[in-house]
Amino acid sequence: MKLIRAKDYADVSVKAGNIIASVVTLKPDCVLGLATGSSPVGTYKELIKKYEAGELDFSQVKTVNLDEYVGLSKDHDQSYAYFMRNNLFDHVNIDQANCNIPSGLTDDPEAECGNYDKLIGQLHTDLQLLGMGPNGHIGFNEPDEVFIPGTHCVKLAESTIDANQRFFASRDDVPRQAYTMGIWGIMQAKKVLMVVNGKNKAQAVKAMFTGPIDPKVPASILQLHPDCTIVADEEALSLLDL
Ligand code: F6R
Repeated sequence: MKLIRAKDYADVSVKAGNIIASVVTLKPDCVLGLATGSSPVGTYKELIKKYEAGELDFSQVKTVNLDEYVGLSKDHDQSYAYFMRNNLFDHVNIDQANCNIPSGLTDDPEAECGNYDKLIGQLHTDLQLLGMGPNGHIGFNEPDEVFIPGTHCVKLAESTIDANQRFFASRDDVPRQAYTMGIWGIMQAKKVLMVVNGKNKAQAVKAMFTGPIDPKVPASILQLHPDCTIVADEEALSLLDL
C-alpha cells in the first residue's frame, strides 16, 4: 500500500482529487468506483472545481457505487443515489445513465446483487475510491469471520448506525441494512484510492497497515491489492509509527 501524507481534510481532498483527475484525463472513458459518506465530499468538490475550470470532461465516464441503504428510494434525501447526485453528478457533465448504484428498493435482493456483480465484472473498474469506517469497514463490509466476495445484503454494525445517525433526524431513522459491493468487487479494481481523515479513524488506519489481514478489519485486505494508495491526514495517521 502506498501512503500519501496530507495535512488535514482539505489537503486530503486536493490530493485525492488530483489522482482521480489524472485517471479521467488519461482515460476519458474510464470506470470510477465511487463512495459516499463525509470522507469523499471534499474530493468531489475538487473534481467539480476542475470540471468548472474546463480541466475535466466526464461525458464518457462510467461509475459504479459501493453501496446503498436497504429500503430507501433513490429520491430519499439520505439515499446514496441522492447523495451522489447532490455531491457530484448534478454538478458535472456525466451522463447519469452511466452511473450505477444498487437499488435499495429491489424486491429480489439475490438477483439485484448477482446482476451488480455481473456489471462490475463487465465494467472492470479503473479506480475505486473508498472511505473507511472507524471499525475498519470498506463499502459496508463490516467486521466479520470471513471476507464476503460478492455484492450482498449486510446488517449494519451498531457502531456504524451510531456513526451514521448524524445524517438522519434520529438514530431510529438509520436503516439497519445495506447492499454493499463485496471484497471481490473492490479488489478487482485496477487502482484503489482511500481517503481517510480524523482521529476517530486512527485505530483503523493502524490496524489496516500494520495488523494481520483479517476480516475483523475488512480494510486490511487492501494490503494484498497491487495498486492501492491511501491518502490520510495527520490525525488519521497519529497512531501509525511508520
Ligand atoms: C460509503 C461507504 C462507507 C464509508 C465509511 C466512512 O459509501 O462505503 O464505507 O466510506 O462509513 O464514512 P465517513 O466518510 O462518513 O466517515
